[in-house]
Amino acid sequence: MQVIVIIPAAGSGSRFGGDIPKQFRTLGGKPMLMHVIERFLFDERVHRVIVPVQEMLLSSIVPVPGDRLRFIAGGVTRQESVARGVDAAGDVRAIVAVHDAVRPFFSYEVFHAVIDAAREHGAAFPAIPIADTIHVVDDDRVVSTPDRRTLVAAQTPQCFRIEVLRDILMRGEGDATDEAGLAAKYGHVVKAVPGDSLNFKITRPEDLVMAERIYAEWGDDK
Ligand code: CTP
Ligand code: MG
Repeated sequence: MQVIVIIPAAGSGSRFGGDIPKQFRTLGGKPMLMHVIERFLFDERVHRVIVPVQEMLLSSIVPVPGDRLRFIAGGVTRQESVARGVDAAGDVRAIVAVHDAVRPFFSYEVFHAVIDAAREHGAAFPAIPIADTIHVVDDDRVVSTPDRRTLVAAQTPQCFRIEVLRDILMRGEGDATDEAGLAAKYGHVVKAVPGDSLNFKITRPEDLVMAERIYAEWGDDK
C-alpha cells in the first residue's frame, strides 16, 4: 500500500506573529517547511508528498517535474487544508500521513511505527505522556482535574487508511486541530504510538529559539 504524506502549510501563524508565516521562518538558514519536505522525500517508504499552502503563494512556487512532490491551495482551516490534500491524493489505496509543517524534528523511527499501526488498526498517532497536571478551567477557575495517567499529548505525523481520513473529514465540523481526535469521535479505532518529545510544534517565537539550539547541536541527524 502506498504512503502519501500531506503537510498542511497554509496557516498564518497568528500565535507566532511576525511578517511571514512561521513555516517559512528559517532553521539553520533553511525554511522550516523545506526541512520537513526534504525529510519525507528522503524516506524510501514515502511515495508522494502533497503540500497545501496559501493560494496566493502557489504562483511563486516553481513546479516540480513528476508527481512525488506537489503544492496545492490550502483552505481557511487546517482541516480544510488537509481535506484538499486528500482530494489531491486521488482514488488510491494508501496510508495517508498528515504532518504539521512546523514540526521539523520528527523521527523516521516514530513515523514508521505510526504507519505500521495505521495499517493494522486504521488510524494512529504519536503520543507523549503529560508531565504537568492538566486542569479544566472556566473563567480562570478550576472546574475539574482529569487523572494525568489517562492523558497524552498528540503529535504528528498522524497516519490513516485513506478511507478513514475521507470519512472523518467529510463528517467533521471543519475546524478540528487534530485528525486522530476526529477519527475517535466518529468511532474509528485510533492507536496511540509512543512519540518523541523532540518532535515539538513550533507555535511561539521561543519554540524557534529552542529549535535553533537543537539544530545547531544535532543538525539533520535528529
Ligand atoms: N494549517 C493549514 N491551513 C490552515 C491552518 C493551519 O495548513 N488554514 C497548518 C499550519 O500551516 C501548520 C499546521 O496546520 O503547519 C498546524 O497548525 P498551527 O500550528 O495551529 O499553525 P497556524 O494555524 O499557522 O498557527 P496559529 O494557530 O497560531 O494561527
Ligand atoms: Mg492554527
